[in-house]
Amino acid sequence: MVRSASVFVCQSCGAQTNQFFGRCSSCGSWNTLVEQKLSLSKERNKRRSIEGIASSALTPLRAESISALATKPIKRLSSGYREFDRVLGGGLVPGSLVLVGGDPGIGKSTLLLQSASLMAGQQSVLYVTAEESAQQVKLRWQRLQITENDLQILAETDLDLVLQEIELIKPDVVIIDSIQALNDENLTSASGSVAQVRECASALQRLAKKQNVALLLVGHVTKEGILAGPKVLEHLVDAVLTFEGDRFANHRVLRAIKNRFGATFELGIFEMQGSGLIEVENPSELFLGRDSAAGVATIVTYEGTRSLVVELQALVSGTSYASPRRTATGIETNRLHQILAVLEKHLGLPLSRFDCYLAVAGGLDIDEPAADLGIAAAIVSSFKEIKLPKATIFLGELGLGGQLRQVGQLSQRLNEAHRLGFKRAVVPKVNIMDSTGYMEFDGDLIKASSLAEAVGIALDS
Ligand code: TYD
Ligand code: MG
Repeated sequence: MVRSASVFVCQSCGAQTNQFFGRCSSCGSWNTLVEQKLSLSKERNKRRSIEGIASSALTPLRAESISALATKPIKRLSSGYREFDRVLGGGLVPGSLVLVGGDPGIGKSTLLLQSASLMAGQQSVLYVTAEESAQQVKLRWQRLQITENDLQILAETDLDLVLQEIELIKPDVVIIDSIQALNDENLTSASGSVAQVRECASALQRLAKKQNVALLLVGHVTKEGILAGPKVLEHLVDAVLTFEGDRFANHRVLRAIKNRFGATFELGIFEMQGSGLIEVENPSELFLGRDSAAGVATIVTYEGTRSLVVELQALVSGTSYASPRRTATGIETNRLHQILAVLEKHLGLPLSRFDCYLAVAGGLDIDEPAADLGIAAAIVSSFKEIKLPKATIFLGELGLGGQLRQVGQLSQRLNEAHRLGFKRAVVPKVNIMDSTGYMEFDGDLIKASSLAEAVGIALDS
């Protein structure tokens, strides 16, 4: 009898079976069985025997003292884009695994093909296309007008053949588009399933470490975020980047959410054009509508290591529903609810009888509390139908008691605002800062201790 090469392991209790069941017969959880290759322990034994370690013997003295460890400088390869390099923490690290996730159609293939073509000038690059045919990729390559450097392309979905090719060609950089479309023949699960994605990625990782190849994996995120599963890869890879944006707007944001070789929450900003993605030189201008209308407020967010001036828009209007509508784009709805509650309580605005819509211009996501005062100012401005003063920045976190709390990196934020011509800023009084921080901002700095004070000053002038 042929022994099956895999088992199904319950992710909840660890029970193993030879067959797939919808429900684990041991702990009774549903949909927790995931296929796994049987060869893992065999492989460990093989490695031990190669390293001269008897599989049964305990191995003395394999640990080393950290101070005696030789430091190898990390050599980084440029991705061809300054913005991409910035998100990677200075470039690609050989032997590392980078996952680029994002919704289908957002431009992952375009970004990586462009980057591959630019890199191909210095490095040998292999582009594995598992979703599209080589012809399709060639058509895109021509459309992108970056044909001066040649790169290797392989249209293949079979994991073993891809691994073989990498061993033969020995490239410096390999791009796999996408990890969900690769297939390990030894597993019966469908490609794109958790088992397949995990198995393919770990096989690629072992090879990447062995050959010192920088590996870029494309991963799709589905709405549910389960089946397609880049989530299951997050612990395995060295860096997880997400490529986001509104498919109907042109700009795209590349963000690091995990990075073993650099800072997280670093942003790279691109614009999708007819001939591919271009880097945005001055991102603040992109998020700055310079609209002068009631309900518009400007803030400075701090993302990674840089500040961005961003415009917020609020629309407050009388509701015709039993419970008013509250919608927020780019900001968490709960945050909006909280700010509305503070406004209602501390400024006495009857907002529970009004619908409130809030949007961040340019489709950026903002999740830092320093934006609170800007959101509140936009809401009050729309509610009262009074424009906020021109060229004014609002910064501050709102406490539930209506007080303004300190924001981090105030001086960097003010510098960015100043660079873009903002002449006034409303900031929390409690911000303890060295005076040098304010030097660059030679405009009008208004320090307020509460929401009421900040809004009063803003709307009076
Ligand atoms: P793609 O890279 O295929 O997305 P993904 O790999 O994330 O699924 O890009 C898809 C979109 O990008 C497609 O709708 C067309 C658009 N696009 C441009 O606007 N300009 C271009 O130069 C290219 C190549 C694509
Ligand atoms: Mg694609």
